[in-house]
Amino acid sequence: MSSTPTPTLYDRLGPDALRAVVTDFYARVFADVMIGFLFTGKDRQHLIDREIEFTARFLGARDVRYTGRPMRQAHARSPILGGHFDRRLQILRNTLRDHAVDPDVTTAWIDHQLALRPQITGDAGSECDHDVAAARLASPGAPPDDPTG
Ligand code: HEM
Repeated sequence: MSSTPTPTLYDRLGPDALRAVVTDFYARVFADVMIGFLFTGKDRQHLIDREIEFTARFLGARDVRYTGRPMRQAHARSPILGGHFDRRLQILRNTLRDHAVDPDVTTAWIDHQLALRPQITGDAGSECDHDVAAARLASPGAPPDDPTG
């Protein structure tokens, strides 16, 4: 007897909605007064395509492969503070809300972002610790939580 695989969160969202959400999200991020400057000169379409792959994977897509860099490596040269991380997360929340994304998908997406936080910024909270950011910039590529880096 053949059995149908259980639908994943990716199946529930669907590839077209995923692309629409991520495209809108990056339009908002690039235009944002607080974090837009971090994306100056970056290839928006490249980021959209990588983010779609990345998101599809953790939502359970079986036929998609992430072809970008690991998170820590991709962000090591950007001076990302806690407040920048939180701002991006809020923009994502707003985008998911405006696209009426399924609540289970939204929860999984936001939780996944929060779990990745230590790989994106060594700045613990949203207090904008400039010393931490300066230390990261002094040794780009070093893991943010590595005191010897
Ligand atoms: C968990 C949260 C995040 C995820 C899942 C994520 C995802 C990604 C992905 C998939 C890439 C492309 C990597 C590649 O091309 O190899 C990327 C690059 C980038 N991200 Fe993020 N990101 C996150 C948080 C942030 C934050 C908070 C900021 C800044 C506010 C940021 C700024 C950037 C920039 C500037 C690049 C381009 C880096 C470069 O090419 O030099 N990201 N991100």
